[in-house]
Amino acid sequence: MALAEFLAELDDLAQSAAAAFQLAADPHALEAARIEFLGAKSGRLKAVQKGLGKVPGPDKPAAGKRFNEVKQAIEAAFQAATERCAASKGPAKEALRFDPTVPGVRPAIGHLHPITQTIEHLKDIMGRLGFTVADGPEVEDAWHNFEALNIPPEHPARDPLENFYLATAGRAAGSAAGDGLLLRSQTSTVQIRVMEKTRPPVRIISLGRVYRPDKPDKTHSPMFHQIEGLLVDRRVTMADLKSVLRLLGMSYFHGDVHIRFRPSFFPFTEPSVEIDMQWQGRWIEMGGAGMVDPNVLRAVGYDPEEVTGFAFGLGIERICMRQHGIDDIREFYENNVRFLHQF
Ligand code: PHE
Repeated sequence: MALAEFLAELDDLAQSAAAAFQLAADPHALEAARIEFLGAKSGRLKAVQKGLGKVPGPDKPAAGKRFNEVKQAIEAAFQAATERCAASKGPAKEALRFDPTVPGVRPAIGHLHPITQTIEHLKDIMGRLGFTVADGPEVEDAWHNFEALNIPPEHPARDPLENFYLATAGRAAGSAAGDGLLLRSQTSTVQIRVMEKTRPPVRIISLGRVYRPDKPDKTHSPMFHQIEGLLVDRRVTMADLKSVLRLLGMSYFHGDVHIRFRPSFFPFTEPSVEIDMQWQGRWIEMGGAGMVDPNVLRAVGYDPEEVTGFAFGLGIERICMRQHGIDDIREFYENNVRFLHQF
């Protein structure tokens, strides 16, 4: 090995060692650096020392002298770092002061939106009754939002004034509604999506946003949330529907809840009802329900002679508002922290 090469290696070593000792922030890091550079068996200084034997004879004195200088410099750097670490009040000492036996402090990271809390609560209750959660898209096609739900093209529920249709290239302005995509106006769409790909029995709920062009006021919002329930099996009746809704109400409100049905009409259920719930002496309208119309069962390939089913759709905001005594639905969407903090 040429003298120049050996000296270059020494310089390199001196520089890296000095840097490593300087950077060591605590005794652990310092010890690791010591082993790397000054380790008796396989330290880097030892490795470079082996090169000394290969330097040609006449150059040996010069090489040896430089080696000793570098060795001393590295040892001095280590010594300095040791003193610095001992004196420092840096992170090493802070870390030692950490007491893992002291109880932790829960960080203030906020909490769930009241609507989300209601959704989670409803899922828990219905989950205990054996209903699994199904999801569907918020941008729907006419088949799932209307057609398969027994709502034919000329039905007033498909009117552009009642729905948020997406402006699609194929649909000329003012043409008959029903083609193209729309923001779903009800979660009943998910009934169809589930039944299309499952054989009965079916026992699902679906919770999510729905959209209707209503003018916002205390009780209306162009976007709100629904919980849809669907149970299809042999010999399902209105009595099952009423029992499940009553259980849901009693579990949610922790009290005696009564369910009242008023005759109504939905194209996808027959008979159809409006659901009222009574809690703490007051009746409140919760949504619609009924027995799944045979046409709907046929649309998804079920045999209405073999299975029957009930379906319901409730307004999630209503449930949450009734629970907390909130009287304006718009509060939910304004992100007023003083309002949200209360739940
Ligand atoms: N989809 C109906 C609505 O949005 C509610 C409903 C669901 C009615 C299921 C009957 C059965 O008003």
